[in-house]
Amino acid sequence: MSDFGRVESPGSIDSMTGDTTALHKLLDLAPVTSELDGEFFQRNEIVRHGPIRYEQRKNADNQPIVGIKRLRAESYCNAGREIRTIATCDGSLGQPTLCRAVSITVVLPAWHKSGCLRGVEIRRLIGNNQELFRPIHGASFVFKQVAVVGATGAVGRIMLQLLAQRQLPVQQYRFLASARSAGKSLEFDGKTYQLEELTEKAFIGCDLVIASTPDDVAQKYLPAAVEAGATVIDESGYWRMKPDIPLVIPEVNPQAALITHGIIASPNCSTTQMVVALKPLHDAATLRRVIVSSYQAVSGAGLQGTVDLLEGTKAQLAGGDYKYTTFAHPIAFNLIPQIGSFKEDGYTSEELKMVYETRKIMGLPNLAVNATCVRVPVANCHSETITVETERPISPDEARSLFSSFPGIIVVDDPARGRYPMPADCTGRDEVFVGRIRRDLSNPNGLSFWCVSDNLRKGAATNAIQIAELLAAHRFGYRR
Ligand code: A2P
Repeated sequence: MSDFGRVESPGSIDSMTGDTTALHKLLDLAPVTSELDGEFFQRNEIVRHGPIRYEQRKNADNQPIVGIKRLRAESYCNAGREIRTIATCDGSLGQPTLCRAVSITVVLPAWHKSGCLRGVEIRRLIGNNQELFRPIHGASFVFKQVAVVGATGAVGRIMLQLLAQRQLPVQQYRFLASARSAGKSLEFDGKTYQLEELTEKAFIGCDLVIASTPDDVAQKYLPAAVEAGATVIDESGYWRMKPDIPLVIPEVNPQAALITHGIIASPNCSTTQMVVALKPLHDAATLRRVIVSSYQAVSGAGLQGTVDLLEGTKAQLAGGDYKYTTFAHPIAFNLIPQIGSFKEDGYTSEELKMVYETRKIMGLPNLAVNATCVRVPVANCHSETITVETERPISPDEARSLFSSFPGIIVVDDPARGRYPMPADCTGRDEVFVGRIRRDLSNPNGLSFWCVSDNLRKGAATNAIQIAELLAAHRFGYRR
């Protein structure tokens, strides 16, 4: 079924105003069979325009057709770094009636080159089923040049796997790392690339940068990427809490990613999985308080963290010594109740990230959150015990149902058969797993559960790629 159409509409942006001829011609091709779905914002799919009204009319063969009543299109020009309305069309084509929803998107060739209107895409949304039709991508409907910064790191390597698997519509990739790696070759999606050194000039020509580096590197280099006209998705901790920087989990606050063409921060791994799990509970019963303890894998400390666990374990089993480079104490056969450095009131930086980032992403500046973060000798996947207090009680059955119907959450909760999420089972997965869902015996409005997720995937690389997909959907109508 092909419900897509595109009309080339050369001329200035202003020439769209009042001129609906081309749109009507196109819309006349679309038969109308079901009711208007007024919901233009569904899960991660953003439809990019303001209110549109439709009406039903008949063509020469007495078939119902759709006509546009009003259209507001948005530009993605870099000017002012914000989305702004560029075109409005008003038609008066008779009595509006309900019809199947059609979203109309006006797409510019590239947001940093304001100019002609290039195309209009028509897509249909049917009911709530997100039955969307993949756009026919022209050359101007994809990211032209995407740079992956920190491509050699623990998260960077997973990003490469995911980008190859998920086939984001990108014309050209570049891979950047430190001077130590520059010139080395890297395999990506069946091709060999040469790693480039990260410098401030390296971003010329990029329209998207996905970065996972230490904080100081992100601080120093990423503003140059924005200057060069790129949108940046950053995994580091440096930009996350800056007031003008959106901090985004696509399942939770996708709209935050769409207000900028600058840096978009991806949250800390331990925060991300918790907030995904908190969101459906909050939507249903309003969170009052969250208490979390984390059991965090060594891969969260970078590639060297994993080396420390393996080499430290081998050395200890052999009765020898090992000099740890990432951890202040042995991690083999041990737990370390410190992740990051100590800050105010005896909390570590990792614990405070869980507090402040959660509040920012959820838009709940006063949410009571208390975190204890512990490094454990697990190779990959962070685990968390989470207890929430909500405005009204949520039963374990209701919580299972809320979790199950939320995108990106998988419930594994059959304690009688020994089934609950464990790091060994969740590694390499993109979802957040929850189990051990039970009442908080100490609080009538309390609920406790266990939550596991791959910290390198949903906690980092997957979230970043999902943000990129969100931008592609928003700007180009891309859908995986
Ligand atoms: P490189 O491998 O060349 O050092 P991890 O979190 O696993 O330690 O990875 C960090 C990533 O950030 C790596 O790709 C690393 O590249 C990169 N990186 C670290 N320091 C710099 C720097 N000063 N300039 C550019 N990239 C850096």
